[in-house]
Amino acid sequence: MEVTKVRFALFFSFAALIPGLWANIAEFDDFWKQREEEAWNITLATYEPNPENVTNHFNYNVNKFLKETSANQTIDFEDGITNNTRRYLRGKHKKYTGPCMATNPIDRCWRCKKNWAKNRKRLAKCVLGFGHRTHGGSKGKYYVVTDNSDHDVLNPKPGTLRHAVIQKRPLWIIFARTMHIKLSQELIIQSHKTIDGRGADVHIAYGAGFTLQFVHNVIIHNIHIHRIVPSSGGLIRDSEDHFGYRTVGDGDGISIFGSSNIWLDHISMSECHDGLIDAIQGSTAITISNCHFTHHDAVMLLGASDSYSKDQFMQVTLAFNHFGKELLQRMPRCRWGFFHVVNNDYTHWKMYAIGGSMHPTIISQGNL
Ligand SMILES: *[C@@H]1O[C@H](CO)[C@@H](O)[C@H](O)[C@H]1NC(C)=O
Ligand SMILES: *[C@@H]1O[C@H](CO)[C@@H](O)[C@H](O)[C@H]1NC(C)=O
Ligand SMILES: *[C@@H]1O[C@H](CO)[C@@H](O)[C@H](O)[C@H]1NC(C)=O
Ligand SMILES: *[C@@H]1O[C@H](CO)[C@@H](O)[C@H](O)[C@H]1NC(C)=O
Repeated sequence: MEVTKVRFALFFSFAALIPGLWANIAEFDDFWKQREEEAWNITLATYEPNPENVTNHFNYNVNKFLKETSANQTIDFEDGITNNTRRYLRGKHKKYTGPCMATNPIDRCWRCKKNWAKNRKRLAKCVLGFGHRTHGGSKGKYYVVTDNSDHDVLNPKPGTLRHAVIQKRPLWIIFARTMHIKLSQELIIQSHKTIDGRGADVHIAYGAGFTLQFVHNVIIHNIHIHRIVPSSGGLIRDSEDHFGYRTVGDGDGISIFGSSNIWLDHISMSECHDGLIDAIQGSTAITISNCHFTHHDAVMLLGASDSYSKDQFMQVTLAFNHFGKELLQRMPRCRWGFFHVVNNDYTHWKMYAIGGSMHPTIISQGNL
């Protein structure tokens, strides 16, 4: 009896340890050690020692936007506009049906511009907050995803999303048409990529989610990610010139692991098996904006471990997001780092909205 107990204890503690430290990588070989070291160097270089500069710059832009729009009176808000940084919203349950409207400085930079489809890369200039240096694949060519299948994760077929994201060169990835993609394993994305779903209705659903592991400079924009389930693991190609054995995936929507300069914008997320978004293990320089979250328990985890002090370099802006129906907790749950949670709209929360431990700095402004 005693022996069985000990075995159980060991089993559980390893089970809890391995996913965090090893990140679904079955064999942490020289390749991954090198990637980890490079990523850590980039995290240190990207870290902003005066985070107030970034939050002030962000707030300056919001104020400027509000002043200009109120002067032009192009936006008809129910509550009018005051001088604080709070963004005013339309009344409950009233779906806006008028002309295209940009209600914040990030959106104004690209949205409602007639030529956006000819000038997609302009988007890369629009990001504000800690992810402000993210330009994704703007220096690369366009890659058009034409095939929604994901049958071969070791040698992905050209034209699939998986084939696009494993390329090492910068790429601006767009979609030929509306498509539903069921990922058969986690989608392991390389650095210098933009995934731009504008003009199509792109759903990543009923399969595995996105993994950003030891990478930098990635934009994900205008897609839906929902009903993500755990993946079985196995041999998966993570770049043109490397593949490896992966363990079981947790079923996160987007997992950001040891990565920096990440911008997630206009993503609709719901009902994933684990978290909707995790940013952990020394990730930094992240902006999550204009996203819509619904129907989920643990929404967003920023720093997973009380003992992982490298997360003190984590800096995240969370702005203009809508935390909608049926959410329980972690909007977000923060550890260690510096978090600007600004102008988000919370429909409600069943346990708590913003929480933290391990002395994080959380600047919460104009949320409602
Ligand atoms: C990371 O930075 C250290 C210290 O500057 C340097 O010695 C090392 O070569 C760098 N490693 C990689 C993989 O870039
Ligand atoms: C950030 O703010 C500090 C203190 O006001 C200032 O000395 C520094 O030049 C600023 N840095 C940048 C990059 O703006
Ligand atoms: C407000 O009007 C000015 C001058 O016509 C224009 O330059 C600016 O873009 C307008 N701002 C918005 C938010 O429409
Ligand atoms: C906003 O600030 C301006 C200038 O400081 C002031 O004239 C105005 O009355 C303020 N508006 C409100 C609604 O507080």
